[in-house]
Amino acid sequence: MLCTNIQQRFALAAAGLFVALALSGCGKQEGATPAASGAAPPAAPARVLVVGTDAAYTPFESQNDKGDIVGFDIDVLKAVAQKAGIEVKFVNTPWEGIFNALDQGDRDLLVSAITITDERRQTMDFSQPYFDARQLIAVKADSPVAKFEDLKTLKVGVQNGTTGDEVVGKLLGKSSTAIKRFESTPLALKELEAGGVQAVVADNGVVVHYLANNPGGGFKTVSDAGFPVEKYGIAAKRGNAALLDKVNQGLEAIRTDGTYEKIYASHFGTAPK
Ligand code: ARG
Repeated sequence: MLCTNIQQRFALAAAGLFVALALSGCGKQEGATPAASGAAPPAAPARVLVVGTDAAYTPFESQNDKGDIVGFDIDVLKAVAQKAGIEVKFVNTPWEGIFNALDQGDRDLLVSAITITDERRQTMDFSQPYFDARQLIAVKADSPVAKFEDLKTLKVGVQNGTTGDEVVGKLLGKSSTAIKRFESTPLALKELEAGGVQAVVADNGVVVHYLANNPGGGFKTVSDAGFPVEKYGIAAKRGNAALLDKVNQGLEAIRTDGTYEKIYASHFGTAPK
């Protein structure tokens, strides 16, 4: 269309602007969510909380043939949720992006055999500890390795960004090329079997379980009293005290009524240590 005078042009521009505003959603009211407007109404219906877990960590978290996420951590958090009156669903979340997913609000909680460390406390909050662990060395059955120090001259596999990675980094130097970092702990252990690394350092529960289920791998474990005790915690975004309070109350409740002990025994075959 050809505009013949200024008024017509102005009218057309105004109409165009109106359409553009309407399309861009300016003035849209009904769609506004409580989150978008900043304040959650007190009576909001309970939301299913999304829990991130790196489900390649048997017996703590793994995916069964049906695709369900199962394991000790899962049973613990399900029992905690029941006591705390919260609803949870588990979403497989690779370790490498897991803390970021929490930070971005894509996950409400993380349960993933996560060791509570001072460094992590800077960027997220943790529940009370729910499990004690320690690093453990896996080597080939004929390896001369007898203590952690002996790894100094070897190629060592770890899961990237774990506490195993951290301790090995201290021994060999963080940027040492002798440290081979893998996306998951099972991948590091497979590489040990293939001979690409001469040792793997990872959480004891996972190493013990892997060896028991791969008798043909020809592995043995070496423990070292120098490894500190690690405590697993459930992580929430920094400042989410109300949610962590509920989780802690749930943890307390399953400890006192014997549920925790039952879950522990069903996965580890012994009473909690
Ligand atoms: N406990 C170790 C850490 O916090 C390893 C945890 C790895 N967990 C997992 N599901 N992959 O660093």
